[in-house]
Amino acid sequence: MEARTREGWGTSLGFILAAIGSAVGLGNMWRFPYAASTRGGAAFVILYVLMVLAVGVPVMMSEFAIGRRTGLSPISALQKAGGRRWSLLGYLFVLTGCMILAYYAVIAGWTMRYLLEALISGFAADPGVYYDQSTTGLSAVLYHMVFMAITISIVVGGIKAGIERASLILMPVLFVLIVGLAFWALFLEGSGAGYSFYLRPQLSDFFSGTTFAAAASQAFFSLSLGMGAMLTYSSYLSRQENLPSSAVKISLSDFGVAFFAGLVVFPVMFAFGLSDQIITGEIGEGRALGALFVSLPRAFIEMGPAGRIVGLTFFTALFVGALTSAISLLEVVTSSLIDTWKIARVRAALWAGLVIMIVGIPSAYDHNILGLFDAVAGEFFLVFGAFFLVLFVGWRMEDPIGELAEGSGNRGLLTGWLGMVRFLLPFILAFVIYDRGKNVYNMVVSMLSGG
Ligand code: PHE
Repeated sequence: MEARTREGWGTSLGFILAAIGSAVGLGNMWRFPYAASTRGGAAFVILYVLMVLAVGVPVMMSEFAIGRRTGLSPISALQKAGGRRWSLLGYLFVLTGCMILAYYAVIAGWTMRYLLEALISGFAADPGVYYDQSTTGLSAVLYHMVFMAITISIVVGGIKAGIERASLILMPVLFVLIVGLAFWALFLEGSGAGYSFYLRPQLSDFFSGTTFAAAASQAFFSLSLGMGAMLTYSSYLSRQENLPSSAVKISLSDFGVAFFAGLVVFPVMFAFGLSDQIITGEIGEGRALGALFVSLPRAFIEMGPAGRIVGLTFFTALFVGALTSAISLLEVVTSSLIDTWKIARVRAALWAGLVIMIVGIPSAYDHNILGLFDAVAGEFFLVFGAFFLVLFVGWRMEDPIGELAEGSGNRGLLTGWLGMVRFLLPFILAFVIYDRGKNVYNMVVSMLSGG
């Protein structure tokens, strides 16, 4: 059931920017500096680059192979390429997409609120109190809903007129803002300790299994892997696109933005003596989740009037990144409704968006629920999905090398890729599943025991 009339990307650049848009988001500017700070700084950063290259790029190529081969969204794609049973993996992807977007839109809502706040009245005098008041409850729900409405309005427009056009405008804006901020941070007095925490590794930090697993799962989240976003985007591609080279470009750009975000966050933290605020517990534990939303505004306030402009810039970049990522999350669900259930795009996007909006409401009320969604869907399901994805591409899919060779041609490298997908990645992913599964388990136990 090939959908001959299916639309596609207008240009190769449009596809690349949209995929970078999916990848670059809260994961880079909020989660990455935060994960790095709780995991030994520079050592985490180095392990993270390794994970992006050794695990992220090959998994992204796997998603591309399925997406372009079938020209379909996850459920139908896996059904077509692997039969009934494999389509279950597609259902998991759609579920994961719904769950991630549900809480992602809540945090994006906070971002919008901070952005407006910087614009209209300046940051509140006590960011801690402000954070506690503004990031839960009815107003958080409202911002979450407004953000979802914006996301829906773009996905309704479709691939070329909606997603591609938005990415072509928004992504360059984001690059300029984040590089500009990093450059500005260079001149902050007392930022040196921030740079050395971020860039000078401590040998002992390399030998922690959990740091390794956290770096891997951060790579999945940040590269939008393990839930079919890249699969879906590549399903709108032409046969000429060079998929391996696109995967490398997208991954390195994503890392670049995360790295620059670190070059903003750490110098600011250290220059204003706020480093111990961010260097605490796990992502997802109560207020630690909002580390960035508490400590950065505090620094912006101390900077005086200039801080308001810097803060506005930062939250604008964060908002733009969150929006282009949310678009891809919603597109996975929407395109599945279109391909698998034959629902028209406008209705599909509206219904999917509405359901996700509702699923997100508990997260807008309770940070513990938000943290749990993040641990379950944002960490565990992504690696779990990626595990089966590589098994599929490595052992079940017909001639995956042939698919990637179209438009690229380097068969030697591709043979190496398939070897990794078959023999190395399943073991790495199994370890990460084990570690992140343990994390979810501990979280649930501590929540149930009222901790
Ligand atoms: N990669 C996005 C970010 O870093 C989040 C995301 C995850 C988007 C999974 C799509 C799929 O913010």
